[in-house]
Amino acid sequence: MKQGFEEGFLWGGAISCSQAEGGFRDGGKGVSTQDLRYLDPSWDREQVEAKHHGSPFSTQEFEQALQDMDTTYYPNRRGIDFYHHYKEDIALFAEMGMKIFRTSICWSRIFPNGDDAQPNAQGIAYYRSMFEECKKYGIKIFATMLHYDIPVQLVLKYGGWKSRKTIDFYLRYAKVLFEEYGDLVDFWLPFNEFNAGRFAPWDGVCLIPDQEENLNQAVFQCLHHQFLASARAVALCHQMLPGAKIGGMIARFTTYPATCKPQDALQALQDDQYANWFYTDIMARGRYPAYMDRYFDRFHICIEKEPGDDEILRNGTVDFLSFSYYFSQVSTSDQGWEKTAGNLIMANKNPYLETSEWGWQMDPIGLRVTLNQMYDRYGLPLFVAENGLGTTDILQQDGTVHDAYRIDYLRSHIEQMKQAVIDGVELIGYTMWGIIDVVSCGPLTMDKRYGVIYVDLDNGGKGSGKRYRKDSFYWYKKCIASNGEDL
Ligand code: BG6
Repeated sequence: MKQGFEEGFLWGGAISCSQAEGGFRDGGKGVSTQDLRYLDPSWDREQVEAKHHGSPFSTQEFEQALQDMDTTYYPNRRGIDFYHHYKEDIALFAEMGMKIFRTSICWSRIFPNGDDAQPNAQGIAYYRSMFEECKKYGIKIFATMLHYDIPVQLVLKYGGWKSRKTIDFYLRYAKVLFEEYGDLVDFWLPFNEFNAGRFAPWDGVCLIPDQEENLNQAVFQCLHHQFLASARAVALCHQMLPGAKIGGMIARFTTYPATCKPQDALQALQDDQYANWFYTDIMARGRYPAYMDRYFDRFHICIEKEPGDDEILRNGTVDFLSFSYYFSQVSTSDQGWEKTAGNLIMANKNPYLETSEWGWQMDPIGLRVTLNQMYDRYGLPLFVAENGLGTTDILQQDGTVHDAYRIDYLRSHIEQMKQAVIDGVELIGYTMWGIIDVVSCGPLTMDKRYGVIYVDLDNGGKGSGKRYRKDSFYWYKKCIASNGEDL
């Protein structure tokens, strides 16, 4: 029986390019879909929340954002200016003893329009330099190839993931990444949170909801194209870089039956199938699961497939699975059940769990449950690609940030990961989300902070941009040094 984390367990941190880099006009970068997401800093928290969950992105806002290239109200254009600060930030990661850094590569830095014949040399040089900086300290790289931001020209010219052409452009991009960074990247991830396409259509599959007559149908067609793109990228990676590791990822919506009523148990099974297993089943098993036939039938969804698609899926199964884990929820047949916020979805409330400041239900044991469920089902190595606590933090006059709540959150989740390892789960790494404060993905604000490193910027992008070590920085350093024993 294992006693705890294996020697060489990959402790790390994660960010995404669009939430961190800024520099949206630098180095020949093209405009990405995330550069067009809009925030009015005067909105209060309720308005921000309603914006994310209600109407993520309308045609009117899209057109306005396309014309409006110079305002400061597009937080992802500014990020935390990681583009210019990466050396300083990576030095802090190294000081913490981080073993692995998960970040995404911005497609529109490599192919500014997505369909360009040649890649952008400056974009290629940027990631080489950033990855080499990590390697200087012995930090491994976990590279997400697409974290919600595709070149916006692909949306304007081809309809984004609605078109099969986007699969070919993605493969051209993937080939360049494997050629250019095959010697530097340790773990590849074709898509961040595959199931986001279903729950946050603009982020996941670049659909503007008010343009779709049948949004559900369009979402699943786009997802089919993404499954093909992912499977082809996996096969290409295996062919070009024998021995490389390439995986899949979902946002894990762990759910429990709200009661022991059989109806609730059935609901939990189906919620799990439709929100979670559908995605990992295809990536790990290489075929559409049988239970989706009934779902597609019920919602009149008809996915257009071409001859050869099934074979592509079969030949592109992943080497490992990863997931983000922030909360759990309950499944119920009761329509009037109380709701609370969650990552990408509104969740059903569990009376036994406390919620974070943003209403997400904190459930460390759910992480152990999830790890066991996923390992039992697939027997593949697992990676916790994201986990963390978004809160308001207070920077003190002396430059300290006392975030005991974050330490508690991380400790309780890491303890449960350790239990899962003792249960027999093959867990290879943990990249806590937002190792350094970045623009939050849903609300697009800076005040929802996840980092163990504080960045002095406010929701309007004002501030010195200086970095400060929070109390959790020292705590995580100690956790890493003791391989998860000293918590
Ligand atoms: C995940 C995303 O869904 O959740 C991240 O992959 C995101 O990009 C994280 O930042 C936390 O969500 P939020 O909305 O609090 O930033």
